[in-house]
Amino acid sequence: MKPLAFSVLRLLSDGGLHSNENLARSLQVYPSCISNALQDIERFGAIIKKNHGLCYRWQNPINWIDENEILSYLHKDKPNFHLVTLDSVDSTNRFLLDQVITNNVPLSKIPVIITELQTQGRGRFGRQWHSGLGDSLTFSLLWRFDCPVRHLSGLSLVIGVAIVRAFKHLGIERLTLKWPNDVLFSFRKLAGILIELSNDKRSGSAVVIGIGLNVQLSSLIKKNIDQSFADLFAITSKVLNRNKLLAILLSELATVLKDFNHFGFDYFRHEWTSYHAYEGKFITLALPDGSINKGIVDGVECDGSIRLKMATGKKCSFNSGELTLR
Ligand code: BTN
Repeated sequence: MKPLAFSVLRLLSDGGLHSNENLARSLQVYPSCISNALQDIERFGAIIKKNHGLCYRWQNPINWIDENEILSYLHKDKPNFHLVTLDSVDSTNRFLLDQVITNNVPLSKIPVIITELQTQGRGRFGRQWHSGLGDSLTFSLLWRFDCPVRHLSGLSLVIGVAIVRAFKHLGIERLTLKWPNDVLFSFRKLAGILIELSNDKRSGSAVVIGIGLNVQLSSLIKKNIDQSFADLFAITSKVLNRNKLLAILLSELATVLKDFNHFGFDYFRHEWTSYHAYEGKFITLALPDGSINKGIVDGVECDGSIRLKMATGKKCSFNSGELTLR
C-alpha cells in the first residue's frame, strides 16, 4: 500500500464523505493521485465507497495504533518499552531481526515494533500469517535474556500465559492454549506466536517474539486462512481499543519475561497446564521429520516439552511438533 494511501485513509477515518478535491488540497497533491493511492486498497480489507466518482467514504474505518495512547495505558510499565509504529511492513519479526532500530535503543528498554498492515507475516513451519489493515494486532519485541539458552524451549509457552492473563484482565476468561503456543477460543485460533533467535550484537543473547492477534478480520482476509480461527469481535461482539489491548499485553509480557528470566518455565508449568485445551485428550502429534505419535496428553515437562501417555502405557516427551485432536 502506498504511503499516500495511509494519509488519505487518516483523513477518511471519520467515516464521513470527502471530496477528491478536498482530500487532494489537504494533502497538497494532484486530485488524480488520490484515486491512484486508493486503487488497490480493498485487497487489504478497507472498504471505500466512491460516490459519483467524486467523493469517498471509508465504510470500515479502523482504530489507529497510537504510540502516545499505548504509552498512557502502560502506566508504570511505560519506561520498560521503546515503541515504534509503522504503517506497513512485510514482517515485524523480520524488521526487528534486521536491527534497523535496535542499535539506538537503550539496553534497559524492550524494543517493540507494531504495524497497521503486515504484508508478509511469518507463521510457524514457514506458513504465512494473514492479516489486513488495522484488523489485528501484529507486533514483535526484542527480548534480551541472561538465562541459559537451554531454558528458551519454554519461552513460547510462557508468552501464551501472558496473553491469556492479559485477556483475563479484560474480563475475557475463556481463552485456552494449544501446545506449544497457539491461543484459542473454543478450539479456534485467536493468536499465534513466533519466536526467532536474534544475533543482536550489543547483548549476549536475544530473541524476537512476534505475536499476531485477530481483532476484527475482514471477510477478504478470512478467506485466506486455511485453519479454524476466531477473532475478538466474534468473541465479544465489541470493537476493542487496540491501543489499550496492546498496552495490557505488553505489561503482562514484561512481567512474565522477568519471571521467566529468573525462574524458568517450571515456575509457570502449573498455570500453563491449567490453560491447555488438550490436557487429557487423545491427540496425534506430527513431528518435524514427518513421523506421527499418538497418545493422551499428560502435562508438560519443566522445559516445556509435551508429555504423552502412549497406548503401551509408556510416557514420552516431545519438544517440537504439531498437535491435532483425534
Ligand atoms: C503461528 O504460526 O502461529 C505464528 C504466527 C506469528 C505471527 C506474528 S504477526 C507479528 C510477527 N511478525 C511476523 O512476521 N510473524 C509474527
